[in-house]
Amino acid sequence: MKFNIVTIPGDGIGPDIVREGCRVLDAVGARFGHTFTYKSVLAGGAAIDATGEPLPAETLAACLASDAVLLGAVGGPKWDVLPGNKRPEKALLGLRGGMKVYANLRPALMFRQLSAACPLKSEIVGNGLDILIVRELTGGMYFGDRGRSSDGNSAWDTEAYSKEEIARVVKIGFESALKRNKKLCVVDKANILETSRLWREVTEAMKGSYPTVELSYMYVDNAAMQLVRNPGQFDVIVTSNMFGDILSDEASQITGSIGMLASASLGDSGPGLYEPIHGSAPDIAGKDLANPLATILTCAMLLRYSFSLENEARAIEQAVESVLDDGWRTGDIAGSAKDREALGEKLVGTRKMGDLVVAALATH
Ligand code: IPM
Ligand code: MG
Repeated sequence: MKFNIVTIPGDGIGPDIVREGCRVLDAVGARFGHTFTYKSVLAGGAAIDATGEPLPAETLAACLASDAVLLGAVGGPKWDVLPGNKRPEKALLGLRGGMKVYANLRPALMFRQLSAACPLKSEIVGNGLDILIVRELTGGMYFGDRGRSSDGNSAWDTEAYSKEEIARVVKIGFESALKRNKKLCVVDKANILETSRLWREVTEAMKGSYPTVELSYMYVDNAAMQLVRNPGQFDVIVTSNMFGDILSDEASQITGSIGMLASASLGDSGPGLYEPIHGSAPDIAGKDLANPLATILTCAMLLRYSFSLENEARAIEQAVESVLDDGWRTGDIAGSAKDREALGEKLVGTRKMGDLVVAALATH
């Protein structure tokens, strides 16, 4: 089959890691008989430098016309001085809203080969960690009315959700739970927020359709605490845009391997938007130091969710596992220099890591 992928390398290490992702996709194509074509477009700081806008209209148009979009990372200190609506991050919101990708799937998965990097005690995470956070991505405070009073002395950001916006993302939560361990936790602040009470009302009206899913509700402050106290209690979490932003960073950190985590943003129809969850790491850009595995695993999600190529997605995931099993590590996931030899770890750069995954795909 043939697929058209739009790539947005973006800023910092974005170009380094997207390049490796595309090489891995090509290796998948060669093994399974698919052709992927790529069109690279600008967004974020790179687009600001070239056009003055973080998200040029042609970029969004190209994304909407594609089969799927692979994004590296956007942003960097160079553009931090710009006003809010001209910052690179504005490109992300424009892409999410413009592509109508309302459900952001963020798996927080601890790789058994990297369990030593988990900051929690082994009695807490001894059985590993595998949580899926489903974050609402095109509503709530990120997109609500905001402003300043005319005297400049007060400001507001509005949290607003319609029943329809809630139902469509909660549905993704239930369906994801059905494919996993059949537990769904709605995280909210229903003791205070009216929007949270609407989330609960909508979820209650839907739960009859998913009798095999064990449903629970948890206040966000408690959820933040439970994630470090007993993360194994969670399977799928579904939550608002703002709470999901915060909790997904917390969850990713407890896996100890933020350089390994992928994400998918999906809507009802149309292309999905895929990006590693880490940032643009401008300090190591272009130095062959970045870990490309999060992007490579993001390509697996792209194949799974946008192209329904489950075997191909698994092949990438298995190739990554085998490279880790063989001891290959980029700096961010390696032990200290003195431990490395004892652990059998071999330090490699971005390109070599990409080569290793490509080679593993050819031989497994
Ligand atoms: C994320 C990021 C973005 C967000 C920023 C960069 C706008 O933190 O994808 O989680 O807040 O959504
Ligand atoms: Mg975030």
